[in-house]
Amino acid sequence: MDSQAGLSLGLNASMQSSPAGSSTASHSDNSFALDLNYKSNSNSKSNVSHSLAWCLTPEKQPENNVVVVVKKREHEEDEDGVVDGEEEGETINFMGRTVCVKRKIEECLQSFPVKRVAVADSKLSVSWGNQPLSVADPEIHGIMQKEKLRQFKGIELIASENFVCRAVMEALGSHLTNKYSEGMPGAKYYTGNQYIDQLEFLCCERALNAFDLDSNNWGVNVQPYSCTSANFAVYTGLLNPGDRIMGLDTASGGHPSHGYYTHGGKKVSAASIFFETLSYKVNPLTGYIDYDKLEEKVVDYRPKILICGGSSYPREWDYMRFRKIADKCGAILMCDMAHISGLVAAKEVASPFEYCDIVTSTTHKSLRGPRGGIIFYRRGPKPRRQGFVLNHGDDSTYDFEDKINFALYPSLQGGPHNNHIAALAIALKQVATPEYKAYMQQVKRNAQALAIALLRRKCRLVTDGTDNHLLLWDIAALGLIGHPLIFLMSKRLSAASRFPGNSRFPMIFPMQSLSVSVTSHLDLAVVEQVFDPKSKSTPAMTSRGCVEDDFEAIADFLLRAAQITSIIQREHGKSCKDFIKGLENNKDIFDLRNRVEAFGSQFEMPGFTY
Ligand SMILES: Cc1ncc(COP(=O)(O)O)c(C=O)c1O
Repeated sequence: MDSQAGLSLGLNASMQSSPAGSSTASHSDNSFALDLNYKSNSNSKSNVSHSLAWCLTPEKQPENNVVVVVKKREHEEDEDGVVDGEEEGETINFMGRTVCVKRKIEECLQSFPVKRVAVADSKLSVSWGNQPLSVADPEIHGIMQKEKLRQFKGIELIASENFVCRAVMEALGSHLTNKYSEGMPGAKYYTGNQYIDQLEFLCCERALNAFDLDSNNWGVNVQPYSCTSANFAVYTGLLNPGDRIMGLDTASGGHPSHGYYTHGGKKVSAASIFFETLSYKVNPLTGYIDYDKLEEKVVDYRPKILICGGSSYPREWDYMRFRKIADKCGAILMCDMAHISGLVAAKEVASPFEYCDIVTSTTHKSLRGPRGGIIFYRRGPKPRRQGFVLNHGDDSTYDFEDKINFALYPSLQGGPHNNHIAALAIALKQVATPEYKAYMQQVKRNAQALAIALLRRKCRLVTDGTDNHLLLWDIAALGLIGHPLIFLMSKRLSAASRFPGNSRFPMIFPMQSLSVSVTSHLDLAVVEQVFDPKSKSTPAMTSRGCVEDDFEAIADFLLRAAQITSIIQREHGKSCKDFIKGLENNKDIFDLRNRVEAFGSQFEMPGFTY
């Protein structure tokens, strides 16, 4: 047992946004200090700081049990905040602030009543704490093994998904999940966060580095549990309830977290429930964003936040045009780069950072990190550029940082998931390497190869191609319009489908239950493997080592699945029930499944030896 770890007592008396707060420092002689700093009132002279010194002494006891002896001494700082005998803390510069992350111990001056804690002293605690999953819970283990096999044998084309490496998995499944650490790094609510602070500072530093950002101009929050939470934290921090937001329509490839309500007016996303939202659309004929219409709408609607970025847009975003449009009504320009953040980091698509005020992202799509969200915000003095305002209000300095951080915690979230933050830091380190750049270049080449392969097979693609990692296959052109299967696949095919009424995404919510009830069907699973939601994207299979030729083969699978679908519909009828019946004992589907699985199983799966 590591006797330096494991004792953490006390809370800060107040939550401060300043980097002060509580901290502990361990020492090789098994003692450490716990500092409780708090302001008793607004007068800085009356700051009071208590320093509790603890000594941990492991002692061998009969029967080989380890006990921990705890001793305590408490005393008060003088008016200048200096504790007798206390050495200087270790300070680092983070985002322009000097932050104390570690303090040296002080002597234990007085002994404290001994407390004995037996560790690992019974068979019960050993068996409870150290069983492998397969023994502790065979049922869950069994399901997980099946999912592992499914991932291994499948062809994953969902644009939202990727495969993380072993190091990321190790961090995710680690002891870091044990620690509570609400608050920003350096100002945590609980004690015992000296290492967690180090992790989070490092993660923030790597996040800025991955996107080539100067910490004088950009800050980052790596705590969001998801990109939906990240987006909502931005709205909560910067808007009042009822203020206006504009984002790309969900049916045009936007994301519900940018505002979504049904044609009947039912507000679906919290962005629409608590704020007013209006969407802009792609041109139904070209599939490109209609910037002129967008401008007209923005000038009329005057949103406080204008959002660019989406879930299924295969082309470059014209950030400069968005900036000009946002400036026409003084809107904050936010980019949700969830899908393309990996490409942005690798400089394989245009960067939103030049023109946007806020940039959010998921961390698990092309970025290839753990599941979560991230928020970048401008900080420091507002740049004044000819032609662009890049500022809001009269102040000369951005005020996003405190508002967004406070909105995320304590307004919306509790303790950050430290295992996630460590895993994200690992992924972000990789993102800054030449190997990751090469990976992203291959992702793009593979997307081009898939697009060309489908076009060569007379398929129609929305916008006729792609500039990034995903492409939209217009299956309406194959005569698959309007059939229940298409709706069934609207979850599976979503972004790649075109529906009557120029809507690409019309039934995503209603159909979710239908597709869930049907996904257990063995044969349909084959079709789903090929026709996956938001599909036809290349990051996941590129992570498994697929190159251009492999995507040529994948194009064949896609087309074959579409042909079989079409035949079953013709032979068995139009309803979903008929279609499912038609799948039963269907030899073509059976053959296709075998071929898909044989193909998928050829490729290595990152992290699966773990
Ligand atoms: C553009 C965009 N924003 C936000 C999200 C939501 O991310 P999360 O699932 O982490 O909430 C997605 C997910 O697909 C997305 O595509």
